[in-house]
Amino acid sequence: RKPVEDIDAYRESLEQIQSAAKALIRGLINKAKRAPKRIIFPEGEHHQILRAANILVDEGIAKPVLMGDRECIETRAAQHDIDLDDIEIFDPRDDERRDEMVCAYYDLRQRKGVTMTEAEAHMAQPEVYAMMMLRKERVDGVVSGLTKAYVESLRPALQIVGVAEGVTGAAGAHIVVSRDNGVKFFSDTTVNIDPDPETLAQTAIKISELARTLDVEPKIAMLSYSAFGTSRHPNASKVAQATRILRERHPELIVDGEMQADAALDPELRCEAFDFAELDGEANVLVFPNLDAGNISYKLLDKLGGAEVIGPVLLGMKQPVNVLQRGSSVASIVNLTVLTVLNAQ
Ligand code: ACO
Repeated sequence: RKPVEDIDAYRESLEQIQSAAKALIRGLINKAKRAPKRIIFPEGEHHQILRAANILVDEGIAKPVLMGDRECIETRAAQHDIDLDDIEIFDPRDDERRDEMVCAYYDLRQRKGVTMTEAEAHMAQPEVYAMMMLRKERVDGVVSGLTKAYVESLRPALQIVGVAEGVTGAAGAHIVVSRDNGVKFFSDTTVNIDPDPETLAQTAIKISELARTLDVEPKIAMLSYSAFGTSRHPNASKVAQATRILRERHPELIVDGEMQADAALDPELRCEAFDFAELDGEANVLVFPNLDAGNISYKLLDKLGGAEVIGPVLLGMKQPVNVLQRGSSVASIVNLTVLTVLNAQ
């Protein structure tokens, strides 16, 4: 399968990253390969998506469905020397179920102020059509957002796919493999701007579930600039309140807070100052007090900290959908698709 350079480069990138990250990603890829799923890419015309699809097929991770103008995809594939034999192309303009899809979207959004004319216009946006494809179970998952501002793909995901039964809201997460090879789960890194205590508690539960799916037993630190009541400011109190909610409702969880990041990651330091803290060893699930903190933290680690960062993963959704960071690398697209396939399994 061509182009060999892309596949070799992806494998080489796996070789170059730290051993824990490599082991984690390889483990996830092997799990995905057991039951590859049909994942639709609304930006199927983009060369990065074509290259990622090539790797996904070659590695047996997913059955990619490239959405877009058939001719454009074929021309671009030829330019990049990509063989489209095992890659499905879906051109929504040729979809024989198009009218049914538009009507279904109208039914869904008519009480949200959307008229039939607007429904037609919204469905002309590939990410909206792709989310409807998932809602209608015509595909197993969606990976979107390469060319758009994050919220432009996030909003249709929230509005069309929605959250799972019993979940009050979605949240965003990143898996961070740090220099010392420790795997950490960060949330919320992309969705809720200023979460209340209930949302923070829900976020902690959702990110812990992701950790467990990846065979990591969660030890949760509820992060703040304050440590166990050193500040009574509402920003600190809401984290303390979220911790209380978690402890009351989920006594089985290993969780404590509010605490500073160094106390979360350095058990000695924590024991010295807060020997009452009920957290054993290093925390591996870090719940941030707001989106500023979560988003800035993962980006700093990505750019300055020498950490390998995988995500953003959308937590709490009804069906498997993930929104890429704009301009993601081919490797990031592949890795997020791996997580989408696992979610679909
Ligand atoms: N979970 C589930 N659904 C939600 C959530 C949530 N947390 N938040 C909003 N929604 C739903 C709403 O119910 C609404 O649905 P409806 O239209 O069917 O009624 C829809 O999403 C839109 O919500 P609004 O409240 O109308 O819109 P808002 O402008 O508040 O958008 C959004 C919500 C997009 C999540 C907003 O909170 C936001 O901008 N978050 C930050 C996103 C961001 O910029 N991330 C960081 C950068 S991304 C990166 O670094 C990769």
